Parts: sequence; C-alpha cells; structure tokens
Amino acid sequence: MKYELFRPELLNNVISFLDENITERYSPKIFSKIHNLWPEGFILGFVNDELKALICGAIVPSSEKLRILLVIVSPEYRLQGYGKQLMSMLSKVAKNKGCNRISLEVRNESRAILFYKKLDFSNVDYIPCYYQDGTDAIVMEKGL
Ligand SMILES: CC(C)(COP(=O)(O)OP(=O)(O)OC[C@H]1O[C@@H](n2cnc3c(N)ncnc32)[C@H](O)[C@@H]1OP(=O)(O)O)[C@@H](O)C(=O)NCCC(=O)NCCS
Repeated sequence: MKYELFRPELLNNVISFLDENITERYSPKIFSKIHNLWPEGFILGFVNDELKALICGAIVPSSEKLRILLVIVSPEYRLQGYGKQLMSMLSKVAKNKGCNRISLEVRNESRAILFYKKLDFSNVDYIPCYYQDGTDAIVMEKGL
C-alpha cells in the first residue's frame, strides 16, 4: 500500500471508492471541507494507482480531541493490518498537533466495533438514529 495525502483532483476517486464500500452517502463538498480544515488528516492508500483504503479525521476545536470521520479498507485488503496502520498514522499526526484523545462513531452491530476494540477503544456513548438509514451509533474513545 502506498500512502498519499488527499488532493482535490482525487475527489472523484474518493467518491467512487465510498460508493463501492459504504452505504452512507456524503456530499462531495464535505471532503473539500475536511481537507481544508486539516490536510494532514486525510490519508489515501493506493495499490497500483487504485484507491484501496482511506482515513480522514478532524480535530475538534478547543478539545484536544481527534475525531475519526471515516476509515475504510477495500474488502480484498482487509485483515492484513492496513486499517490499524491508517489509525496509527492519523493518531501520530494528531498527537503532534497536541491531541490527547481519539473519538469516533460506529454503526451499532457493525463488525468494525471488533476492530476498534482490538485497538483499545471503549464505548462511551450511544446516539439513536445517527445514520441516514436510522441505524444507531456507538461512540467509542481512547487516550492517545
Ligand atoms: C474496519 C476496517 C477499516 C478494518 O480494517 P482492516 O485493515 O481489515 O483491519 P486490520 O487488518 O488492521 O485489523 C486490526 C485488528 O482488528 C481485527 N479486526 C479487523 N476487522 C475485524 C472484524 N471484522 N472482526 C474481528 N476482528 C477484526 C484484526 O483481526 C486485527 O487484530 P490483530 O491486531 O489481533 O491481528 C475494515 O474492515 C473496513 O473497511 N470495514 C468497512 C468500513 C467500516 O465499517 N469502517 C468503519 C466505519 S467508517
């Protein structure tokens, strides 16, 4: 996997990748905003110039907290350590920016919960009807 920071000309690749891999739909504008707020916090993983993984996050203003917005690995590259590597890369840049906590929302009953538990996240909250299809979210956190 070759990692690069997001660039605006890669927006269409990102949108196609999300369409193929998750059900939630986002306005393309959101990704330009995420990128403008914190360019180092939007990392893409390529294999043979094809987008196969991504992670993006935001630093919550005046909270020293990194919020993970999306972390996705293409199905054929899962369970090979790439998700963990992306989380570690983003945590490192956030720590250098002064963050001391990391937080995220995950779909209730998603298998990604097991991934986050492996990375030592704990459940801290529950948000009913958080996702577009009405699924509840579990909020998970850990110290950085
Ligand atoms: C969640 C996701 C990013 C994990 O990526 P990944 O590259 O497969 O994860 P890794 O290979 O780095 O796994 C790290 C650890 O978590 C465990 N793990 C990962 N996915 C798991 C699963 N579905 N069930 C159980 N354990 C899992 C791995 O076994 C590994 O454990 P180890 O360190 O003891 O070996 C990936 O499954 C994915 O893209 N899912 C769909 C999108 C999604 O739900 N994203 C999260 C919300 S945006």
